[in-house]
Amino acid sequence: MLKMNNVTVRYPGTEQAALSDLTVTLNTGEFVCVLGKSGAGKSTFIRCINGLQRPESGEVILGERQVTGAGDEELRKIRREVGMIFQHFNLIPRLSVRQNVLTGMFGYRPSVKNLLGLFSDEEKERADRVLRNVGLEEMASRRVENLSGGQKQRVGIARALVQNPSVLLGDEPVASLDPGTADYVFRLLQEMHERMDLLTIINVHDVDLAKRYATRILALKEGKLIFDGNPLDFDGGMFEETYGSRQVSAPGME
Ligand SMILES: Nc1ncnc2c1ncn2[C@@H]1O[C@H](COP(=O)(O)OP(=O)(O)OP(=O)(O)O)[C@@H](O)[C@H]1O
Ligand SMILES: [Mg+2]
Repeated sequence: MLKMNNVTVRYPGTEQAALSDLTVTLNTGEFVCVLGKSGAGKSTFIRCINGLQRPESGEVILGERQVTGAGDEELRKIRREVGMIFQHFNLIPRLSVRQNVLTGMFGYRPSVKNLLGLFSDEEKERADRVLRNVGLEEMASRRVENLSGGQKQRVGIARALVQNPSVLLGDEPVASLDPGTADYVFRLLQEMHERMDLLTIINVHDVDLAKRYATRILALKEGKLIFDGNPLDFDGGMFEETYGSRQVSAPGME
C-alpha cells in the first residue's frame, strides 16, 4: 500500500509547486495509470514514491515504511521493494540481457558493473526465471545493444521484477515504442502485475492505453490531482480538462 498525505514538492528557484498538497492511497492489486500533460507533475509523483525526490511538506508511506525522512539504509530497503522501468530503458548496452537483469538485484547501486562476477547460481536462476516470464529466455546471452526497443523494455521489466518488489513504477515506459509494441508491453505489464500481486503505477501519455489496462486512473494538472477514479469515468470532458484540448479520435473509433 502507498499513502501520500498532503505532499507538496517545490523545485529550487520555482514558484509554482510541482506537486501541490497531494493526498492519495493506492493499494496492492491496483494497476494505476497517471495522466497529465507535460509538466503536470507525473515524474515528480513517481520520484516521491521511491525517495528520489523529497517533498517540501507532507509524508509518503510505503507499506510500513516512511519514505519521507528515511535515511540511506532505510531508503535501500524501500528501493528493494520498488521496481522501476524507464522511458529510455536505462540498461547497460554492452552487457548481456541476463547481466542487465542481474543488476536489478542491487537495487539502485551504481557500482554494479564491477560486481557482476559476484552472483550466485541461485540468483542467476532467478534472473533466468524472470526472463522466461517476459519471453526472453532465448536471448539471455545477447548483448542488449542489439535488441529492438520492445525487447529492451522487456529486459527493463525483468530487471525491475527480479528482486520480487511489491510496487512497480514506470515513468512513460512505452513513450519510445510504436503503438503495437506499446500495447504488447502493457499486456506484459498486466500479466506480471497479476502474477506477482503488485501495486503498479505507470505514467503514460496515451489515454487509450490507460483506459484499456488501468484499474484506476489519476490525472494531474499543475501539480494537483484533478481526477482519481474508474477509467470508464475518464470521459471527453475530463480529457479536455486534463490536456486543455479536445480528444481526437482516429476515423472509425467511437
Ligand atoms: N529538477 C527540476 N528543477 C526545476 N524544476 C523542475 C525540475 N524537475 C521538474 N521541474 C518542474 O516541475 C514541474 C513538474 O515536472 P515533471 O517532470 O514532474 O512533469 P511531468 O508531468 O513528468 O512532465 P512530462 O510529461 O514532460 O514528463 C514542471 O513545471 C517542471 O518544469
Ligand atoms: Mg515526466
